[in-house]
Amino acid sequence: MTTKKQVFSEKISIAPMLDWTDRHFRYFMRLITHHATLYTEMVAAPALILGKKDQLLQYNPEEHPVILQVGGSDPKQMALCAKMAAEYGYDGININAGCPSSRVQSGHFGAVLMKTPELVADCVAEMKASSPLPVSVKTRIALEGTQDVFQALLHFADLVQQAGCSHLIVHARKAKLNWSPEDNRKRLPLDYETIYKLKKSFPDMPISINGNVLTLQAAYEHLFHVDGVMIGRVAYGNPYLMKDIDALFYNDRHTILSRTEILEQMIPYIQKNEQYLNVILPHMMGLFHGTSVSKLYKQTLNNRNLEDIISFLSVLKASQCP
Ligand SMILES: Cc1cc2nc3c(=O)[nH]c(=O)nc-3n(C[C@H](O)[C@H](O)[C@H](O)COP(=O)(O)O)c2cc1C
Repeated sequence: MTTKKQVFSEKISIAPMLDWTDRHFRYFMRLITHHATLYTEMVAAPALILGKKDQLLQYNPEEHPVILQVGGSDPKQMALCAKMAAEYGYDGININAGCPSSRVQSGHFGAVLMKTPELVADCVAEMKASSPLPVSVKTRIALEGTQDVFQALLHFADLVQQAGCSHLIVHARKAKLNWSPEDNRKRLPLDYETIYKLKKSFPDMPISINGNVLTLQAAYEHLFHVDGVMIGRVAYGNPYLMKDIDALFYNDRHTILSRTEILEQMIPYIQKNEQYLNVILPHMMGLFHGTSVSKLYKQTLNNRNLEDIISFLSVLKASQCP
């Protein structure tokens, strides 16, 4: 009997981004794509264990598939987080082993974990043992200064796979600890080829590529080499660019909402969450990116006044804008 290979559903995902991909942004993004997997911003394991769980873990039911990203390196703590993620109904849990910021490093998580792949593997194993959720890892190619980059990445991937990692996401850059994430992005070159090569060594573990994927066409081309593509900043700055994901990558040709319809659908959500108005509106700034009304739209959102937004919407609808 042949065993059927499971279809990997995470062809496109929207990256975890601190302060950006909170539940409000994810709700908004779901109006644009029904299928892309959405990641939470990183939550530190100690905060989850000691802090206000509900506040940190609550999300809207519309957000599925949604994956909780956790920062931590204590296998027991990470196991507790995985258990909580399952209790809250997340679709998976992800370990941040790629963020180079010094703040994250001092908590011993993020890219510094690339120095101790055995510890990441221990976390994966404990998380798998404590919850039924798939456990994935997000990392970078290697730490800057690594002698044999490919060997280091192979070793990392091998250990986490053996521990039960269900999906490895690789940001196509090295990480330089103590440089800011922005410097890391601006000063370290992209290297997609190493990830393509990695995939050849891991036919059975889904591997996603991340880093500067700015168009769906580019995502499509990466998918000839890897299983998934994770998109970050452009999904935040120009969210409507994601509107064709469902048709192109998931063969779902449902009606696509116009920008105006999306804005209209956000109004009841904002009304329901009015105390978060100042958090929600910045996430919607990019909706009209590249259109003639973008400037006026942003000015309107900046007024932070729902009535102004409703008036703007009426004008848009009357003028049959995009
Ligand atoms: C504002 C911001 C916050 C980020 N926060 C996280 C985070 O919480 N966890 C993480 O793994 N990566 C984080 N990243 C990195 C992104 O997930 C992604 O790896 C990076 O932006 C490269 O993808 P892109 O070029 O498509 O943006 C963040 C990036 C940005 C711009």
